[in-house]
Amino acid sequence: MPDPRIELFEGDITTLAVDAIVNAANPTLLGGGGVDGAIHRAAGPGLRAECATLGGCRTGEAKITKGYNLPARHVIHTVGPVWRGGGHGEAEALAACYRHSLALAIEHRLASIAFPGISTGVYGYPPEEAARIAVAEVERFLTGDTSLERVIFVCFGRQATEIYRGVLSDSIHSR
Ligand code: APR
Repeated sequence: MPDPRIELFEGDITTLAVDAIVNAANPTLLGGGGVDGAIHRAAGPGLRAECATLGGCRTGEAKITKGYNLPARHVIHTVGPVWRGGGHGEAEALAACYRHSLALAIEHRLASIAFPGISTGVYGYPPEEAARIAVAEVERFLTGDTSLERVIFVCFGRQATEIYRGVLSDSIHSR
């Protein structure tokens, strides 16, 4: 069985009242399009002001800020890899995004965290492969953790939901 703490949510991550939503950012942390743009729009100018003090973020790393006008208490900003065909360490970098975001959540004693499909938009990561990495990394992390209560994969549309449903059901049969 996949860990019962893992949930799927189809919709807009900026609407979730959780301890942290994860932002698929770029190395400047100063905002962009996609989910990055949606989070900054919903959070308001305070978010960019705090991000400007963080000195950017390397691919695979994660940094935490307050949530400002978002219903979420915090935003964990992580920078996914740009897909360049799969031979440039993309899988490990993507896994590191999930691992470092979860580690930050634990460090800040957060109980609930929601992830978008990191790198599967502008950065071009094949969504099914990305979902497999996301689920595997979160399941691995949760086997060693008891402080997290909810990890939500946010699917921005039906296709993404079907992909995550499939990956989670595969993980049942692979146990
Ligand atoms: N809620 C949840 N998911 C969303 C939302 C939203 N409001 N908006 C977009 N998404 C989904 C996209 O459908 C995609 O599956 O988030 C996933 C990540 O796509 P992007 O936002 O394009 O992020 P990414 O592929 O990691 O590219 C990052 O894009 O926005 C810029 O500044 C960002 O340069 C960085 C790059």
